[in-house]
Amino acid sequence: MNESVIVVQGLVKRFGEFISVDDVSFDVREGEVFGLLGSNGAGKTTTIRMLCGLLRPTSGSAQILGIDAAREPERLKRSIGYMTQRFSLYDDLTVGQNLRFFGGVYGLRGRAFDERRAWALETAGLEGKENLLTSSLPGGWKQRLALACALLHEPRVVFLDEPTGGVDPVSRRAFWQLIDSLAAAGVTLIVTTHYLDEAERCDRIALMHGGRIVAMGNVAELKEVFSGRAMLEVSCPRVLDAQTRLEDEQGILEVSAFGTTLHVVVEDAGAGSATIARSLSANGFDPHQIERIVPSLEDVFIHCIESEEAQRSAS
Ligand SMILES: Nc1ncnc2c1ncn2[C@@H]1O[C@H](COP(=O)(O)OP(=O)(O)O)[C@@H](O)[C@H]1O
Ligand SMILES: [Mg+2]
Repeated sequence: MNESVIVVQGLVKRFGEFISVDDVSFDVREGEVFGLLGSNGAGKTTTIRMLCGLLRPTSGSAQILGIDAAREPERLKRSIGYMTQRFSLYDDLTVGQNLRFFGGVYGLRGRAFDERRAWALETAGLEGKENLLTSSLPGGWKQRLALACALLHEPRVVFLDEPTGGVDPVSRRAFWQLIDSLAAAGVTLIVTTHYLDEAERCDRIALMHGGRIVAMGNVAELKEVFSGRAMLEVSCPRVLDAQTRLEDEQGILEVSAFGTTLHVVVEDAGAGSATIARSLSANGFDPHQIERIVPSLEDVFIHCIESEEAQRSAS
């Protein structure tokens, strides 16, 4: 087992009365790709900014490579790479000028800079394009240039905040291949995303909602919230009315609307199907169809958020 290079304990950030990050704790091991998954406003960027030493936590701590982010932010910044949500590149500079700027930020000079510059151009697929204005680059190229700039000083820990926002699917795939090759070389990466398919590519995921981590683990571990139970997909007319009806039936544990179908969690697939079929027919929801399915990460996501919401309104 590799050592932890990131240790986050009880991290809290308040803005006035508002709690943006609420008691967040996790560890990340060397070479791991750790995903922070959550919808807009979940607290991902605020967490990342505290981990990078750019924002002081209200309480709690974050240690990165043994450096306390709040106590030694300047030392930390030299040891990590950070790609912000809006790709912190200068649009009015050329590709080469952006590389020179970030090289300067990280104190790279002479031959060391030239070598890293050549590496960055190759990695970003921008060889021979040094004189292009950054604003003229397509989204996918800009994104790879931003990543290359964040990696110029060969950091062992890299933070990528929604790195694939607004980028086409082909570029997204290429970008994830780059992430995988960095991890294989021992770089530790924290990636925030609201895309479930991207989260599935991470070694482990922390699901954030309302500033809290509501679930954490690899995909298989996360799906264990449904272990010992069965998930059924139900198609019928007027699904939202059917949902209300099924929620009242004995033996039905959870009902969630899922597109134009319902996902129903039951203890036993056979008995559960029979209960659902009887209830739907008796209440005018025919024709209907019931099929057992394997829960997806989206099912886990919905389950965890709904139980968090239920707990909050109960307390
Ligand atoms: N400087 C700030 N002042 C007040 N509220 C903030 C500030 N920064 C973030 N927030 C709030 O904290 C919450 C989490 O924001 P953020 O971390 O950006 O979420 P995410 O990156 O997951 O979309 C949001 O409700 C946001 O409005
Ligand atoms: Mg954000």
